[in-house]
Amino acid sequence: MKNYSKFIGVLLFVIIFMLSGCGNSEKASSGAGADEKKVLKVGTDAAFAPFEYMDKGKIVGFDVDFLDAVMKEAGYKHELENIGWDPLFASVQGKQVDLAISGITINDDRKQTYDFSTPYFESTHMIVFKEGTDIKSAEDLKGKKIGVQNGTTGQLAAEKVVGANNNISKYENTAVAFMALENNDVEVVVTDNVVASEFVKNNPNSKVEAIEDKDSFESEFYGLMFPKDSKLKAEFDAAIKEVIESGEYAEIYEKWFGKEPSVDTLLK
Ligand code: ARG
Repeated sequence: MKNYSKFIGVLLFVIIFMLSGCGNSEKASSGAGADEKKVLKVGTDAAFAPFEYMDKGKIVGFDVDFLDAVMKEAGYKHELENIGWDPLFASVQGKQVDLAISGITINDDRKQTYDFSTPYFESTHMIVFKEGTDIKSAEDLKGKKIGVQNGTTGQLAAEKVVGANNNISKYENTAVAFMALENNDVEVVVTDNVVASEFVKNNPNSKVEAIEDKDSFESEFYGLMFPKDSKLKAEFDAAIKEVIESGEYAEIYEKWFGKEPSVDTLLK
């Protein structure tokens, strides 16, 4: 009798195990229903206000709210982790995270290694410098001590003007590059326009200003970044489109930037 109930126990265990898909986690992402979907891991570099930054131990910013909206629309739960800029790329490639959001510009070079969602934000570059520095256009970067965040399109934008020479100091994140400017280790920082403006606005005592140069700095677009051939891309493209078209995007945009977005370029 004792053996018999043991046998039933084992049998039940085997049946339950088989029903659960033999522990096959792939099944969870097959899209059979929202509650079956796995919790997605998302990586970011939270030193890029107002897109993602740390506030009282929490990651906050436009990207964070936008991500919440898109995840909800796509029916996923997610965990957002601050892993830093350079490690972010390695983590997506090595699939330690399912995707990344970090004001990441979609460009041809990155597209060789990663997949990107449809664009969700238009950006360009600005030059940040201390009041009194002789900077009127990107041409004036020549001969200046330049600071950038390593491996960003800000670095590429600066290199396009001055060449890839050693006048460019490359920092681990944008906050450190700004610190170098405040300490006079560099004379200018080239970074994304919204981040540059936010830094100027938030640091009146640093006596910094920022200029654009529409002739030298091209417009670019941010996207969610996935491992190559990720099945998530299609789902998230649809979710992003819905979040933009429903007006939810405009609400988040106004919360962070205090004005209405022009979404036409994003929906093209
Ligand atoms: N948009 C630029 C790029 O993709 C800079 C992004 C930096 N983002 C960040 N969270 N540090 O290269």
